[in-house]
Amino acid sequence: MEAPPFLAACRREPVPYTPVWLMRQAGRYMPEYRAVREKLGFLTLCKTPDAAAEVTVTAATRLGVDAAIVFADILLVLEPLGVGLEFAAGDGPVIHRPVRSGADVDRLPEVDPQTLGYVAESVRRARAALPARIPLIGFAGAPFTLASYLIEGGGSRTYARTKGLMHGDPGAWRSLMERLARTVAAYLNTQIDAGAQAVQLFDSWVGALAPDDYRAHVLPHVRALIAALRPGVPVIHFGTGTAGLLECLRAAGGDVIGLDWRVDLDAAWQRVGHDVAVQGNLDPAVLLASPAVIRAAAATILGRAAGRSGHVFNLGHGILPQTPVDHVRALVDAVHELSAR
Ligand code: CP3
Repeated sequence: MEAPPFLAACRREPVPYTPVWLMRQAGRYMPEYRAVREKLGFLTLCKTPDAAAEVTVTAATRLGVDAAIVFADILLVLEPLGVGLEFAAGDGPVIHRPVRSGADVDRLPEVDPQTLGYVAESVRRARAALPARIPLIGFAGAPFTLASYLIEGGGSRTYARTKGLMHGDPGAWRSLMERLARTVAAYLNTQIDAGAQAVQLFDSWVGALAPDDYRAHVLPHVRALIAALRPGVPVIHFGTGTAGLLECLRAAGGDVIGLDWRVDLDAAWQRVGHDVAVQGNLDPAVLLASPAVIRAAAATILGRAAGRSGHVFNLGHGILPQTPVDHVRALVDAVHELSAR
């Protein structure tokens, strides 16, 4: 059988049409997801592999996308560190005992990837339930973005404490980043061993950094993490606000570079090089507009990709919760129709 289009595009092989999937394709915008969440809290859902697999498969089949993503969260890996992870309703995630000093870093226990075995089990069950033509993506947070939650205790606008540790105690920072890189690599390898056919590394908030700081304090750890992954499985390296960092992300590694909507896809692809694939990059807010506007915006992005092998269509960041499901379907259909080779 021919490789599924999503995997072919990750490897920059020719495809019959541009494959598309959407970050946060399983989520609150979808009535089926909200129905599951009425019965199960978010963490409980993540830890119930049958339910998590069902959410993954329902979203992928309902939307007609070319890849599914395991239902989990980038912050789950922080729970076994004993820092008090909570998904508080309405407020976003909270870390009740943030890491603020070298002593805090030294106190963190080593994570046994088996404690996250429920995610590998969700991968196994979702893979078993999905049609062969829909590959399953595993994922994890990248060290900087995970460190930002650990240190800030939640989301942040300035990352002042995170940068404070990075600049103020580079030894503690390095030790934390090494720890996270090692843990995330082992965790992603358990997902790959369970059947994940590609993995995405979410460095969602890395765009807060100056290029020099990225190169000194982040790049070596991302590079080590990617080098520790099972070979042959495509790695998607994603961040937002990265217009100033694209060459740095590329240098850190990945087979596919994720682009947010703040860059033109063609110019960004030129910068990272045509010897790597790209994923993106529709503004998620466009999905709130009419199907005609969505179709025109998809056409613009496909025009910038110009039929070159190695484009995975996606949003530039996750689907907004107020997005109509019909609009998402309209996008998927438009990408398939407009890109048919
Ligand atoms: O469909 C999918 O994409 C798979 C599942 C997935 C979730 N989170 C489920 C989730 C993925 C890939 C993530 C990644 C994630 N989680 C990121 C990186 C992507 C990004 O958006 O930048 C980040 C930063 C997080 C951390 C996180 N988890 C936040 C900030 C929040 C609260 C805000 C929000 O969107 O609700 C979560 C909770 C979360 N993770 C939900 C879902 C479906 C909502 C929980 C609920 O059902 O109430």
